[in-house]
Amino acid sequence: MDAAGPRLAVEVVTLFPDALRAQLAVGVVGRAIERGIARVGTEDPRTYARDVHRTVDDRPYGGGPGMVLKVEPLATAVAAAAARLPGGSPRIYLSAQGRRFDQAAARRLAALPGFLLLAGRYEGVDERLVEEMIDEELSIGDYVLSGGELAALVVIDATVRLLPGVLGDAESAEQESFGGGRTLLDWPHYTRPEEWRGRRVPEVLRGGDHAAIRRWREKQALGRTSERRPDLLAGQELTSEERGLLAEYREERESCRTRSSRK
Ligand code: ADE
Repeated sequence: MDAAGPRLAVEVVTLFPDALRAQLAVGVVGRAIERGIARVGTEDPRTYARDVHRTVDDRPYGGGPGMVLKVEPLATAVAAAAARLPGGSPRIYLSAQGRRFDQAAARRLAALPGFLLLAGRYEGVDERLVEEMIDEELSIGDYVLSGGELAALVVIDATVRLLPGVLGDAESAEQESFGGGRTLLDWPHYTRPEEWRGRRVPEVLRGGDHAAIRRWREKQALGRTSERRPDLLAGQELTSEERGLLAEYREERESCRTRSSRK
């Protein structure tokens, strides 16, 4: 580990620390942890359950289905995990009721020295824990997961890959269309072979004209975004060059469709 400590420290409060750690050991995040750029610790509330059965959940007041995570073991686990983080690290509860996690949120978290993630299970956690110990609630999308662990992995992955030195130049986060100031979908990618089942890699990508390649990629990114996620373009002012690229993309798509319907 770096003498100055990791650039980002994360703590996850979870009932399934082993499952989480297995996933954190691989890929870009695994490498960042190995190199000491990020550190991810875990805290299992079950450690702090006081009865012989190590109970961490109970039936909801008011009735209804499912179980609720009890406040006392969770509170002790959150405090223990928070004590290992730099001062001012926010405590984040992952739930479907949270504000939407997006690339801007990932950038905000990546700028911090640390944060804590609380992964819920069952119907959720006792609301008093949220009121007393949580700074914000985040959701990774409009669907209900059976636990916050997958959400924690999503938040950690999207954040850690933005830390300086984690991605090499070739895979730089800056080059991605969700990076930087623009919010566009990515352009299509190809590798060898040059032809597969009669489908050829676009000619422009095989030549060495870097300006033409950049232009083609930008056109694809704009075109795909306008087709698949027009909501992303709604809030953005396009330059006249970008409007031109978009018009070109649409014309090309249209002539492609006309050609294939004539076949
Ligand atoms: N826990 C359950 N569903 C979730 C979601 N959509 N996002 C984050 N945490 C969750």
